[in-house]
Amino acid sequence: MRYRLILISLPIMALLAVSAGFAYVHWSKGGAGTGLYSRDWSPDPVQGYWDPDNFYQSTETVAGVFKAELCIQCHEGITPGIVADWRASRHAKGSEPVYCNDCHGSDHQQLRLPTPDVCGSCHEQQHGEFRDEARYGFPSHVLAMERAVDAPHFADKPIAEVQSCVQCHSVATKCDSCHTRHRFDAAEARRSEACITCHSGPPHPDDESYFASAHGKIYLAEGKDWDWSKPLIKGNYKAPTCAYCHMDGGRHQVAHKSLWKFGLREINPHTSKNKVLRKRWINLCSDCHEEKRAAQWLAELDKERKRAWEKLYAAEDVLKDLRSDDLLQPAVGERPPYPMGSWWPRERIGFFEGQASAFYNVSAIERDYFEMWYFDNLGSYKSAAHGNFAGVEDGHNKMTASLDRIKAKASELRASSNAKQMSEINSELSRLWNRGVYTEYNRENN
Ligand code: HEC
Ligand code: HEC
Ligand code: HEC
Ligand code: HEC
Ligand code: HEC
Ligand code: HEC
Ligand code: HEC
Ligand code: HEC
Repeated sequence: MRYRLILISLPIMALLAVSAGFAYVHWSKGGAGTGLYSRDWSPDPVQGYWDPDNFYQSTETVAGVFKAELCIQCHEGITPGIVADWRASRHAKGSEPVYCNDCHGSDHQQLRLPTPDVCGSCHEQQHGEFRDEARYGFPSHVLAMERAVDAPHFADKPIAEVQSCVQCHSVATKCDSCHTRHRFDAAEARRSEACITCHSGPPHPDDESYFASAHGKIYLAEGKDWDWSKPLIKGNYKAPTCAYCHMDGGRHQVAHKSLWKFGLREINPHTSKNKVLRKRWINLCSDCHEEKRAAQWLAELDKERKRAWEKLYAAEDVLKDLRSDDLLQPAVGERPPYPMGSWWPRERIGFFEGQASAFYNVSAIERDYFEMWYFDNLGSYKSAAHGNFAGVEDGHNKMTASLDRIKAKASELRASSNAKQMSEINSELSRLWNRGVYTEYNRENN
């Protein structure tokens, strides 16, 4: 009898738990923002331009429903640059021009800013390829916006500090990131500069590593004389640009060859799935190089990754030991609640314990580790991927130095005779941290 009751109630409880989970996620998405933390932030008006589908509200200052000629006439005076760019574009030059109102609508009090769906109504192929990226998971352009807003540190920080996130991550929510409005020029998108507005800086130095490589150098020296109207296929270009390698054949997705992805976690490059992806890379390189040589270069990348992870794991071990001995101070309970005042506050070390938490509210030694992992490691990865040999050396030298520093600090913490006194000072400080002006302002104004 009892067993039967348990047997019956187990699936019911599981069902209830799952429904409660769904209900919670549904509820959490019902706020003024978007994503999992929509109730914890509200958008600035400018968000309408970055994520029009969710946030754009038409201006109402001009009333009327206008024909295309009138849009152009009036905007010739108001926004002459936009009209000139449009006139110079393929959209204006075809036998059936694509007019302002095809993208924006004709009713000036119900204007829209075109989302990928709007462009996709005419450019089905590119839109379809772009959406297909989701199949390969994160990171990808099509999922970039949800990736940003679903990051706890997006909702946890003052909105002014995270507005930049959506500027780059809007690559998901509109189609004018690489061929900018209102020229919508494919030639512009083929060039490497089209990508580096977003793909630069310490965690993703694609810009820096590419321009330091043989490919980037040739592009800089000779690219101005190349015929950029040609599509990105074998024979058309002497050296590859970002899009040549990542969007080969003009395919509108960047995830179909990625093995190491962002470089955040260790992978096994020799699984059958990864061998397929690697083969795609080698095919691409062999547009210009001997296949064997390309395979060797990419095998060097895998070796570089192996070396990097050995160093990162060594540092993680040091930190985890300190954590078990309560020597990471101030302890997590003595810091402002982050991320989002989690149910189980804990110092989190490494990707699997929570990437975002490593950014803020960390002690000095955790910060060393964060920089080693996020900047030096990722810099070295991108250098190896893009053929910047000096960058690999530099990244590894820095990682070695960080590891030494982490070990030295750990011995200091262990040797410290006044651990008890430190812990008292820290709990004093924690009152300040937890109720500081910054923390309070942040809580009120997201
Ligand atoms: C009589 C002049 C006039 C005509 C005709 C006109 N516009 Fe505008 N448009 C404006 C002005 C003025 C603004 C700036 C409004 C503001 O800032 O509130 C504007 C703004 C816009 C914006 C930017 C909206 C925003 O929120 O940033 C778009 C898009 C636009 N117009 C498209 C069109 C289209 C499409 C047509 C034709 C269907 C058109 N306009 C016809 C005067 C005009
Ligand atoms: C092929 C589609 C397309 C056409 C055609 C088009 N636009 Fe746009 N327009 C866009 C996109 C995309 C944006 C950027 C939307 C965003 O930021 O989310 C934009 C933004 C704008 C803006 C507001 C942002 C800014 O840069 O100030 C104005 C004003 C505007 N367009 C006017 C026009 C006018 C006038 C015409 C006709 C001469 C026109 N557009 C034709 C796609 C188009
Ligand atoms: C009403 C249909 C329509 C809409 C909507 C539309 N386009 Fe186009 N687009 C065209 C046509 C037609 C061409 C010219 C094709 C040709 O000449 O082969 C074109 C050409 C292009 C090109 C190629 C330009 C070049 O230099 O070769 C790009 C890029 C482009 N569109 C991007 C966009 C984007 C981005 C959007 C949305 C903001 C958009 N289009 C919305 C119809 C449309
Ligand atoms: C300068 C442009 C830029 C800004 C600003 C930016 N990002 Fe990113 N972000 C990127 C790029 C590019 C990548 C992926 C790089 C790669 O794959 O190598 C990325 C990756 C990520 C990832 C990991 C992607 C994954 O799927 O694993 C997250 C999460 C993320 N960003 C969130 C944010 C948040 C939150 C902010 C604001 C605090 C932010 N980003 C600001 C460009 C930017
Ligand atoms: C407007 C900003 C922006 C521009 C421009 C941009 N990207 Fe990205 N890209 C991103 C962001 C943000 C991510 C990370 C998305 C995420 O969080 O999952 C990303 C991710 C990627 C990835 C990682 C895919 C993977 O599977 O690991 C590649 C490759 C990439 N972009 C290549 C390019 C290339 C090539 C160009 C230029 C032709 C370009 N991007 C232009 C913002 C941009
Ligand atoms: C990451 C950069 C990037 C983004 C984002 C992007 N494009 Fe493109 N687009 C390119 C590149 C690069 C080319 C040139 C491809 C080639 O050489 O074949 C291109 C070319 C095009 C063309 C012209 C194709 C041809 O053969 O003439 C169209 C149409 C187009 N894109 C539509 C879109 C649409 C629709 C979106 C949004 C879903 C979009 N693009 C988003 C980089 C981008
Ligand atoms: C010679 C071809 C080539 C060129 C040119 C190139 N890349 Fe890469 N890129 C690679 C390879 C190979 C990887 C490592 C892929 C792997 O194994 O995951 C990579 C990795 C990346 C990643 C990490 C995600 C991924 O796909 O693994 C991003 C983001 C990226 N590149 C962006 C860029 C940008 C932006 C440019 C131009 C500034 C650029 N790349 C130029 C070949 C290239
Ligand atoms: C569009 C042609 C093209 C493509 C595609 C291309 N490369 Fe290159 N690559 C060149 C040229 C040209 C050079 C400079 C001359 C040389 O070393 O052959 C070069 C140089 C290199 C170098 C420096 C070699 C040295 O000895 O200094 C490396 C490494 C390299 N490429 C790797 C790759 C890898 C890996 C891929 C594929 C992910 C790739 N390339 C794709 C054209 C290309």
